[in-house]
Amino acid sequence: MSDNQESTDTEDTTTASRSATLPLRPPCERLSCHKSSVCSRSYFVVVMVFFHVYIINVIGLLFYVHYSSGQEDGTRSRDAPSSGQQRPEARRPPSKAEFLRDVSLTRIEGIRVGHVQKVSLVPDKVHEMRTLSLKPLLFEIPGFLSEDECRVVMQLAQLKGLMESQLMVQDGQEELAKELNLSPDEIFNLLDINQDGQLQLHEILTHSRVRDGIWLTPENLREIYAGLKADKDGNGLLSLEEFRLLSNDAFQRFLLQRGVKRSQLVRNSRHTWLYQGKGAHQVLQDIKARVTRLTRLPSSLVELSEPLQVVRYEEGGHYHAHHDSGPVYPETACTHTRLAANTSTPFETSCRYITVLFYLNSVEGGGETAFPVADNRTYDEVSLIQNDVDLLDTRRNCDKSNLRVKPAKGTAVFWYNYLSDGRGWVGEQDEYALHGGCVVTHGTKWVANKWINIDPDYQRQARYQQLVSQQSEDEDDEGVTLNPDTQSSDVHQDL
Ligand code: OGA
Ligand code: CA
Ligand code: FE2
Repeated sequence: MSDNQESTDTEDTTTASRSATLPLRPPCERLSCHKSSVCSRSYFVVVMVFFHVYIINVIGLLFYVHYSSGQEDGTRSRDAPSSGQQRPEARRPPSKAEFLRDVSLTRIEGIRVGHVQKVSLVPDKVHEMRTLSLKPLLFEIPGFLSEDECRVVMQLAQLKGLMESQLMVQDGQEELAKELNLSPDEIFNLLDINQDGQLQLHEILTHSRVRDGIWLTPENLREIYAGLKADKDGNGLLSLEEFRLLSNDAFQRFLLQRGVKRSQLVRNSRHTWLYQGKGAHQVLQDIKARVTRLTRLPSSLVELSEPLQVVRYEEGGHYHAHHDSGPVYPETACTHTRLAANTSTPFETSCRYITVLFYLNSVEGGGETAFPVADNRTYDEVSLIQNDVDLLDTRRNCDKSNLRVKPAKGTAVFWYNYLSDGRGWVGEQDEYALHGGCVVTHGTKWVANKWINIDPDYQRQARYQQLVSQQSEDEDDEGVTLNPDTQSSDVHQDL
């Protein structure tokens, strides 16, 4: 009680001021017209009661959240589609919790750069997997493919025939611009990324790459300005007045007239696709099974991914830095699950969760795979293209990349193009996964890409898998399941 008494003195002023602002306090007023311990005590009791009620409420709330989250998921997904992994006897669509529990995506831990883990991918051989970077999460596995396998893949690709990876000029964008019917002022505004009323070189460069796949350098652009007398005041910037004097396709017409070389494209290579399903060459099926083991993802996800892409770069070939897959917004659709999407959207990306890149030969000179911003402290898109140094340019600036992987026959590298959402599914795009193929200075370069497509919207992925499994059930009795059948915990061991 002495504690109470002590606190009375200090709390008294508070009580008084509160009674002043809260006139409806009759008991207190009656008892404490002057300083009264009865009032202080009752005040203390009231405070304690409130305090206990508050604590009980918090505990109650915690219990509620804990016990209701499972049920809530169940009710929320009542109208959700089945994920294909459900047992035939239970026709109820799985809840979000169930779906994630069964198909939670394994993400291999990088630990630290240089960390080596032993992986068992084929009988009688242990591979070593080295962490090359954490941002993006990137690994290298020497000897992933045997010499014979590399040879077979290159031969199969040649047999099938390779096509130009990029056509000279993409018309689609032109049509889109016409359809939108934008005024020069509106176009200027779109290009002026930093909204300073001037077009800097890099603002034009970025646009040209996206629009027609022509990779301009700052020098090219200065040449074009001179040819078109576009930059009247010669300050290297285009003002709105200067921009208005140019026709919509002035740059493109100028370039086409002068002739665009293959080396001036975003990508200078040839490629083809090799299907890896039933009936495919055994080597292709073996590679698919090994990729499943390596990535520890459900085999159905690998099964339903894009075919193997085989790429050939001649001497002088390159691929400027890019993302294999774009960012996902709520309205973005994935190419592979479009079948299962019930809305149409102008935003679409390939949703390549993982890239596995195989080097099919050792290149005599150049041809490294560059990761310009791997393990950078920050990612700043705008500073990638300064006016004179363009980190995305793999013909000029590979030496400035944070990380370069030298092609060695049979080596595989793989990385995650997306982060985790923290709940076992695909999260946001990993911007650090930016990469490109440096110019080949001597010889030819052969690589293959195995992309693993996963929709960041797990319900859409589930719906898609269900659709496919129904189709294949119609064809034969072997349904596609989402259950990981290759997840043995002893595949990866630390050294
Ligand atoms: C690709 C790619 C890199 C390389 O084909 O998407 O990024 O080193 N290739 O060829
Ligand atoms: Ca500007
Ligand atoms: Fe790529």
